[in-house]
Amino acid sequence: MIPGKRRAAVMSFSLAIIGALLLQTVSSQNAGFVRSPFSETKLTGDAFELYCDVVGNPTPEIQWWYSEINRADSFRQLWDGARKRRVSINTAYGSNAVSLLGVSRLTVDDVGTYECRASNDPRRNDLHQNPATTWIRAQASITVLQKPSIASSDHTSLPVEGDSYLLQCNLTSAHSVHQESYWMKNGEEIAETRSPNRNTEYFLKKPRGDAAGVYMCVYTFETAPPANATIEVKSAPDIIGHKRSENKNEGQVAVLYCKSTGYPYPIWNWRKFDNGFPREIDNSSGRFTISSRDNYTELHIANLDIDLDPGEYHCNATNMLGTRDEKIVLRVRSNLAPLWPLLGVLAEIIILIVIIVVYEKRKKPDDLQDDDDHAGPVKTNSTNNHKDKNLRQRNTN
Ligand SMILES: *[C@@H]1O[C@H](CO)[C@@H](O)[C@H](O)[C@H]1NC(C)=O
Ligand SMILES: *[C@@H]1O[C@H](CO)[C@@H](O)[C@H](O)[C@H]1NC(C)=O
Ligand SMILES: *[C@@H]1O[C@H](CO)[C@@H](O)[C@H](O)[C@H]1NC(C)=O
Ligand SMILES: *[C@@H]1O[C@H](CO)[C@@H](O)[C@H](O)[C@H]1NC(C)=O
Ligand SMILES: *[C@@H]1O[C@H](CO)[C@@H](O)[C@H](O)[C@H]1NC(C)=O
Repeated sequence: MIPGKRRAAVMSFSLAIIGALLLQTVSSQNAGFVRSPFSETKLTGDAFELYCDVVGNPTPEIQWWYSEINRADSFRQLWDGARKRRVSINTAYGSNAVSLLGVSRLTVDDVGTYECRASNDPRRNDLHQNPATTWIRAQASITVLQKPSIASSDHTSLPVEGDSYLLQCNLTSAHSVHQESYWMKNGEEIAETRSPNRNTEYFLKKPRGDAAGVYMCVYTFETAPPANATIEVKSAPDIIGHKRSENKNEGQVAVLYCKSTGYPYPIWNWRKFDNGFPREIDNSSGRFTISSRDNYTELHIANLDIDLDPGEYHCNATNMLGTRDEKIVLRVRSNLAPLWPLLGVLAEIIILIVIIVVYEKRKKPDDLQDDDDHAGPVKTNSTNNHKDKNLRQRNTN
């Protein structure tokens, strides 16, 4: 058979049994499929999983069987660990019987028909019985296509020589005509990169730290899964955002964070600086928690302690290409702090009252003197006169 015809035959065969073929026999009325495996097309090197869910009382037993394409008469039972451990079978028996068949690192030899068999018939393992009458069966056909080959640019590190870098992918061989290609960065599609070309490019103009990451070109096909190639653009970390300072009251929670660019994602570390010397964070009180994910890290300090916690904290981001750290100042105020303005006013009032009281007490003898003053200036003593003179002299100066 020429490849085109064979492909057509495989496809029509797959289509014919898509949705799975159900064979129900009279003797196992109780066993029935809730979910049966689906046919799939995969690429070499990838993996597939088939799922089978059966009801019945008593709970049915599940088995997996395989036959090469167009050899439906030659089914062989599959077991966990078959094909050099590329086959895995996980079955759970509860009110239903559910089973997951997995085959990994696919080769073109894995092409064929996979069958989920289930039965709760007490005679199911009796060799004199025809299995076709004691077991129900559901089939899925698996097609494995040769993975297309893609020539792609080398991995690189920033800064690059020159002030730009060109990412290239060339689809060099494929099982069928491709539809289009596009680019992704860190798992997300880059807008406006879709094209119908076999050779595709993505231009990094004057790349900075935030250009680092995992780039991927993806080719899509009409009747086969997409194929892709990855290009890593590495760079040393750079801390591009952090909380400069945090002001909290004792007993509250402080949250300090740092964000970075750079790839591979950095390993994060937090330290406290005492008199300019870095110290590992003392977590004997269990109040410190660090949560770091990829390009972000957060330090939580619960139940703030006014004596132990204030100071300078540093987040440190390190990968194979470099290291950076950034300072965050934590201030912890006393719980009484919000009361201080009030206490101030209170203190002022008290002082005022004291002054008034003291003044009033002193005023009494003065009052008499004042009355004397009204009587006439003659009675003023010499010391007072002297003071007045001094004052006047100072004023004229
Ligand atoms: C892709 O093809 C172009 C044109 O033939 C060639 O110049 C370029 O070097 C190729 N790139 C890779 C990564 O193979
Ligand atoms: C890229 O290819 C791998 C291997 O074939 C596949 O597992 C993955 O899902 C593909 N990713 C995308 C985004 O197509
Ligand atoms: C950090 O990584 C997330 C995904 O992991 C991404 O969405 C985000 O843009 C990245 N931020 C920076 C500053 O690189
Ligand atoms: C500190 O201790 C607590 C409680 O034992 C723990 O949950 C937390 O992960 C620790 N934090 C660090 C940074 O080790
Ligand atoms: C970050 O921590 C690492 C490991 O402790 C250290 O070698 C590096 O010097 C620190 N980076 C900075 C910028 O202080």
